[in-house]
Amino acid sequence: MKHVFYKGEDSSKPTLLLLHGTGGNEHDLVGLGKEIDATANILSVRGNVSENGMPRFFKRLAEGIFDLEDLQLRTEELKNFIDEASGKYEFDRDNVVAIGYSNGANIAGNLLFEYEHVLKGAILHHPMVPRRGVELPEMPKTPVFIGAGKNDHMCPAAESEELQDLLQGAGAEVELYWHAYGHQLTQDEVQAAKQWYQSKF
Ligand code: MLT
Repeated sequence: MKHVFYKGEDSSKPTLLLLHGTGGNEHDLVGLGKEIDATANILSVRGNVSENGMPRFFKRLAEGIFDLEDLQLRTEELKNFIDEASGKYEFDRDNVVAIGYSNGANIAGNLLFEYEHVLKGAILHHPMVPRRGVELPEMPKTPVFIGAGKNDHMCPAAESEELQDLLQGAGAEVELYWHAYGHQLTQDEVQAAKQWYQSKF
C-alpha cells in the first residue's frame, strides 16, 4: 500500500497509523498525527480503492452503504500491511494506535471488528458502524475515542452510540466526544482527542 513513514523520537510511544477520508491521501493526516503526538512514529497509508479518482480504503455501493465483501478483503490487506511494515520499519507491532477520519475511521473500526490484538487503541473521527450482526473479538480495556457530530448527515447520532455500545460490549473503553456540527473534524475535537490520547498512552 502507498504510505509514508516518519520515525518518531520516542520509541516507547505508539506508532500512529493514519487513515484518511474519501478523496484523501497518505499526506493528509500527518499534521494531525504530529499534533496528537509529536514524538511518535507515523505510518500514514493511502487507501487502495479509487472511486472516480478518489482514494478510499474499501468500496461502497452508495453513500453510507458498504460493499461488505470488499470491506473484509481490504481490512485483511490493511492488517497484513501493518504486520509487514512493523518488520520493515522496526516498530512494535503490539503498540499501534489508529487515527482515522470518516472512511479511514470506518476501516479502523472494522480492524477492531475483525481481529483480536490488532490495535492498541484507536481515535475514530466520525466513524460509522462498519458491519452489523457479527460477533466481535474480545478487546479488553482497549481505549477507543469516537469523535461525532450531533448533526452529521453521514452518521446519525444514534449510529455513533450504537458503535460505542458494540465496542464496549466487546470490552473496549470508549469515550464518545460530541460536537454540535456535521461530518467535519473540528479543532476542538482534535484537542479533545489529544487530551484523551495523553491520558491513555
Ligand atoms: C464511507 O464510505 O466510509 C463513509 O460513507 C464515509 C465516507 O464517505 O468517507
